[in-house]
Amino acid sequence: MEIFKILTFSTTLLLLLSPAFGKTASKAASPPSLSPTPAPAPAPDFVNLTDLLTVAGPFHTFLGYLQSTKVLDTFQNQANNTEEGITIFVPKDGAFSSLKKPSLSKLTPDQLKQVILFHALPHFYALADFKNLSQSSASTPTFAGGDYSLNFTDDSGSIHINSGWSKTKVSSAVHSTNPVAVYQVDKVLLPEAIFGTDIPPTPAPSPAPEIAPAADSPDAKSADTKSSKSSSPSSSPDTAASHRIIFSLGNFVVVISMAIIMVVFL
Ligand SMILES: *[C@@H]1O[C@H](CO)[C@@H](O)[C@H](O)[C@H]1NC(C)=O
Ligand SMILES: *[C@@H]1O[C@H](CO)[C@@H](O)[C@H](O)[C@H]1NC(C)=O
Ligand SMILES: *[C@@H]1O[C@H](CO)[C@@H](O)[C@H](O)[C@H]1NC(C)=O
Ligand SMILES: *[C@@H]1O[C@H](CO)[C@@H](O)[C@H](O)[C@H]1NC(C)=O
Repeated sequence: MEIFKILTFSTTLLLLLSPAFGKTASKAASPPSLSPTPAPAPAPDFVNLTDLLTVAGPFHTFLGYLQSTKVLDTFQNQANNTEEGITIFVPKDGAFSSLKKPSLSKLTPDQLKQVILFHALPHFYALADFKNLSQSSASTPTFAGGDYSLNFTDDSGSIHINSGWSKTKVSSAVHSTNPVAVYQVDKVLLPEAIFGTDIPPTPAPSPAPEIAPAADSPDAKSADTKSSKSSSPSSSPDTAASHRIIFSLGNFVVVISMAIIMVVFL
């Protein structure tokens, strides 16, 4: 009879103690592992595009358009982004003054902005990279997005650019250190999307660098779940370890209380 009482008592004690301990333990263990310490940002190789274009060239006309259209901010921001970098094709002042027809002065502000955005690629390309680009079948998208793309051909080291309307080549490398490349070109790059038709095109949205998987597809959901699980691998061993400690602690408490009860009752 006594033994039965002791067993009931200690079982109740075990049931009462374990969940309470388990809950507090996992609460205490989880928060630190969920907030990862941010990695210190590497110092960017900062290139001031205004200074660069002021010194080289003369590129005053292009720089003037960059400033008036505010595209300079877009390009400078991308130049600051050391992950992707930027490649800019800059026509000399002479290329603008010799451009009689078609004239940039007849463009709407939006079209002019598109033309300036058309002069850069949202990625750093060294001169040697254009051989590879010219071999790929797709044309290369520019900052103007949509239909505004350029085709490159590498003619034994000389890089030719085809914009659809203008055919020109890189005549010198002004700056080519990752993440910023600035190449001088002989002509203003005129996009077919504006000059190839009489109908003004609808402004193209800025290019989306990465295509996210469709949120409603079951594949994307399971991928999300997987990645969110695998993104916090440190939390599971911690929790398991704390549960093990709690379990043996629970056992210990039960053994001790059983001993006390036995001393008192027997
Ligand atoms: C670049 O230099 C110019 C003139 O030297 C200055 O006005 C401008 O603020 C600088 N831009 C950046 C992004 O630091
Ligand atoms: C680029 O970086 C420089 C220096 O870190 C900063 O002064 C400037 O505001 C940044 N410009 C843009 C457009 O992000
Ligand atoms: C060439 O381009 C392809 C994609 O078009 C890329 O996978 C490859 O890494 C590039 N090779 C070099 C040497 O840049
Ligand atoms: C660029 O190349 C693509 C693919 O080869 C072609 O379809 C397109 O017409 C070319 N564009 C120009 C402007 O030459």
